[in-house]
Amino acid sequence: MKPTEAFAPAKINLTLHVTGQRDDGYHLLDSLVVFADIGDRLWLEPADTMHLEVTGPYARGVPTDNRNLMWRAAVAAGVTLCMRLEKNLPSGAGIGGGSSDAAAVLRHFGAVDDAEALGADVPVCLNPLPQRMRGIGAELSVAQTCPQWDMVLVNPGVEVLTPQVFQALTSKENTPMDALPDTPSRSLWLDWLALQRNDLEAPATLCAPVIVSVLHSLIDARLARMSGSGATCFGLFDSPADAQAAATVIKANHPDWWVVAGRTLASK
Ligand code: C5P
Repeated sequence: MKPTEAFAPAKINLTLHVTGQRDDGYHLLDSLVVFADIGDRLWLEPADTMHLEVTGPYARGVPTDNRNLMWRAAVAAGVTLCMRLEKNLPSGAGIGGGSSDAAAVLRHFGAVDDAEALGADVPVCLNPLPQRMRGIGAELSVAQTCPQWDMVLVNPGVEVLTPQVFQALTSKENTPMDALPDTPSRSLWLDWLALQRNDLEAPATLCAPVIVSVLHSLIDARLARMSGSGATCFGLFDSPADAQAAATVIKANHPDWWVVAGRTLASK
């Protein structure tokens, strides 16, 4: 029997407002999350003992034991698997790599109730559509009218530690997102997005000052912003050709950065 193949798309926070902090330290968020046609690939096969092999451009340093969220997802789903992960997404990059890998395993085995226990970003990754994410990450609603976006993702090769970024955030109580646009018009969405924020951009930049250069490299985008706790930033473009052209220029200027053009996954 051939192993089942699954796709774990990159998660991008088009906005990320931090609106409070709970007594246990976790932060309350209000975030618009989308997914890209850029991501990791997984192969899953029932086996007698759990095994995980990691290949691909970002395999280095990825644990192949129960520290890996995919492994823990399989345990939570009550299955023993021989797994292969093609790691195309950089780790510690604000684009949900490990969470998306875990969610792909849970989704495949219908073990969706176990998502929250594996991490705050795992529930949103179960359903790779545009979603508004609130609470610490588990209060989700589909953003029905959010259009598809041509985008470029840029990561400078610097890992950013999420807890450190949250720690460097000075104001924990910021305004939530405005009401989402009730229209599929890209230009109205761009106007709206420009008025929203990623509250982690400033503290992440303190941890990794290169983020300023990453955002500057996306100067031709209609909107450029950091995703999650960084350091990956995204730029939105009007067409696949515009995104590809920008990616080519950024890559030429920064050959050691991870630069990819792609498109977000649709809400329908
Ligand atoms: O839940 P997860 O392991 O993905 O989160 C990583 C870290 O990010 C947490 O340990 C916490 O420090 C921080 N975090 C937070 N509030 C959230 C999500 C994550 O403070 N809503």
